[in-house]
Amino acid sequence: MEKLEVTGAKKLKGTIKISGSKNSSLPILAATLLSSKKIKIYNLPKVEDIETMILLLRSLGSKIKYNKKNKSVDISNLKNIKTFASYNLVKTMRAGIIVLGPLLARFNRAKVSLPGGCAIGARPVDIHLKALSKLGVKYKIVQGYIYAEAPKGLIGNVIKFPKISVGATENLIIAASLAKGETILKNCAIEPEIEDLINFLRKMGCNIKWTGKRTVKILGVKSLKDLNYKIMFDRIEAGTYMIASALTGGNLKIINIIPKIIKTEIDILKKVGATIRIKGTKLRIIGRKKIKNIKLTTSPYPGFPTDLQAQLMVLLCKSFGRSEIIERIFENRFMHASELNRMGAKIKILGNKAVIEGNINFNAAELMATDLRASVSLILAALTAKGKSIVNRIYHLDRGYENIEKKLKNVGAKIRRIS
Ligand code: UD1
Repeated sequence: MEKLEVTGAKKLKGTIKISGSKNSSLPILAATLLSSKKIKIYNLPKVEDIETMILLLRSLGSKIKYNKKNKSVDISNLKNIKTFASYNLVKTMRAGIIVLGPLLARFNRAKVSLPGGCAIGARPVDIHLKALSKLGVKYKIVQGYIYAEAPKGLIGNVIKFPKISVGATENLIIAASLAKGETILKNCAIEPEIEDLINFLRKMGCNIKWTGKRTVKILGVKSLKDLNYKIMFDRIEAGTYMIASALTGGNLKIINIIPKIIKTEIDILKKVGATIRIKGTKLRIIGRKKIKNIKLTTSPYPGFPTDLQAQLMVLLCKSFGRSEIIERIFENRFMHASELNRMGAKIKILGNKAVIEGNINFNAAELMATDLRASVSLILAALTAKGKSIVNRIYHLDRGYENIEKKLKNVGAKIRRIS
């Protein structure tokens, strides 16, 4: 199995180009199932989750030309689309559940494997299913599969999500795009990736309008158009490298971004003491010796993202004083803490709160990654530790970070993949 060897204590200097967003690409790729028209999508990140989604779409009968060099796909879903998404493909990537909405919208039926739990928590899909049933979907769960059908087709309704869910908002926006009549979704997630999905669907011919901060109105349409679409930048990848610069006392230029989308992250990193200069679609972040301790809670956008919580925790281990992070989105998302403690961190977990003592020096160690963002937090810690660290189970990392070792190596990190 492949591992990463990181030799630390180097300041990162140079330019990092941010790739397309994984979390935008996944629902947008799923949404192509709505249409029989020609669709071209570019700026896809070269990561495992995208390969898995393409495999899933192909298993459903999509004709996809994947040009890895150009990071683009040409898709046509003319006919022979199947409505069965198997466990084998959905189990590795929870976002597989997002094919449920488009399959029901176009074919009125679907059999989709339940994604199951994952390391960061139970991650149920009850909100997706209850909301779909309000559009006329009847479903049962048998032996790990959702059997869903809408004999009369999907019919618009007013739905208020009981909790903010990114995936459920996406599934319902996609499904309602072809439903009969008008759907109003309330208490929606408003992550930038949802805006990207809506932009894609609008370009495809769908009728979607925000009518309130978290309320969206969708008027079902009957026909769709050919389109070309460019995926937005990956704000979590951008945040990760910004933290890497702040952490190593580095000086990184982060390019191919829209800074106003990551205003919360920029403000937090300024608050802990990094110097950030923004210019157009890029920014420069300079790490300072003195890192300030803070208290922070993860929350849905525009709050601080749970997907950057592990990375920020590493930075706070180096601050002058005690910090606190409250994790509001996933119940079990502190698994990196025990690995960081093995490297010399002093982190205490009290329920959904982490208390982080600052002023520590990380020691190099052999480490085990547990999930995507936890893996990258271990790499960050290893970048500051004197000596050689080995990070195992990096298949988690490959799910979501494009060319991480190449990008880090280009800015001065000593990192290599070994098997
Ligand atoms: C998406 C992101 C993930 C990010 C998360 C929160 C993708 C592919 N993944 O995941 O990187 O960490 O948003 O920003 O975009 N919940 C339920 N029932 C449901 C659905 C969700 O209880 O039916 C709960 C979840 O367990 C979690 C919370 O709602 O506690 C938010 O989850 P959700 O926003 O749905 O996350 P994902 O869409 O899975």
